[in-house]
Amino acid sequence: MKIKSLVSIHQYSKDDILCILENAARFEASPNRNLMEGRVAATLFFEPSTRTRLSFETAVNRLGGRVIGFQDASTTSSSKGETLKDTILMVSNYADLIIMRHHLEGAARYASEVAGIPVINAGDGANQHPSQTLLDLYSIQKTQGRLDNLTITLVGDLRYGRTVHSLIAGMSHFKPSFHFVAPDEMRMPDEQKSFCDNLGIPYTEHTDFTEDIINRSDILYMTRVQRERFTDPEEYERVKNVYILRRSMIGQSKSNLRILHPLPRVNEIASDVDDSPKAYFIQQARNGLFARQAIICDVLGINHLI
Ligand code: CP
Repeated sequence: MKIKSLVSIHQYSKDDILCILENAARFEASPNRNLMEGRVAATLFFEPSTRTRLSFETAVNRLGGRVIGFQDASTTSSSKGETLKDTILMVSNYADLIIMRHHLEGAARYASEVAGIPVINAGDGANQHPSQTLLDLYSIQKTQGRLDNLTITLVGDLRYGRTVHSLIAGMSHFKPSFHFVAPDEMRMPDEQKSFCDNLGIPYTEHTDFTEDIINRSDILYMTRVQRERFTDPEEYERVKNVYILRRSMIGQSKSNLRILHPLPRVNEIASDVDDSPKAYFIQQARNGLFARQAIICDVLGINHLI
């Protein structure tokens, strides 16, 4: 039997995505289900995480499974020089599922090729973060009542932000329009723009983060400047405070506008936004639990959720 992994959001068709979102809603209505009884998930986090690791681990626990793993690779034999391949082969001996975050782009795909068990990509470098995209789509669908024909403004580090790269691919099935707001140093890469061009998805690029752009948006997706991916610390210092969303900037925005952020935030959303009914980033992270329950069941072939 072919092993199913989630390496990239590009693997999922529109119907696959809608099925995951339907199942996420089922898990939100009833999160505790013994669908993973007797199974073990390994969370291998070679990079720091709060939400992704803890929500995946909560998802496994609420599904009745057990979790092994690490959150600090320096405590593992990779610090003695063990290769990623050998680490993955070892974990495949012990677990039924690998959930892995790694700093190298392509690491998840490589792991899925050598593992004898399913692998879920929990973020690989600046490349992809597919489970984040599914929880983002679930959040957008919940707050807008639909996914089709929305205007989505992506703000901040569009060069290194893997969540925005995955989100463009995930939204591509639903006739979106995008505004890309970034300084020159963090512009959306050509790969993502060509992807939009080839599918006829309209987008505009801006260096100024203006109220006019906010007022035209249904979703405002703020992102952190990814300090850990900059090779030049001076370049990071130049751009780290480039955009800060303040409450005064959303006064004239559409009533359906929701502000999303994959988190963690540093200072790109001021604290006076937190109490706005348009701020949705804390609920967004909560939605991650339900989306990840649905993803785990999908890769493990657990089809009977009721
Ligand atoms: N959004 C996200 O990936 O958060 P963590 O880095 O805390 O997992």
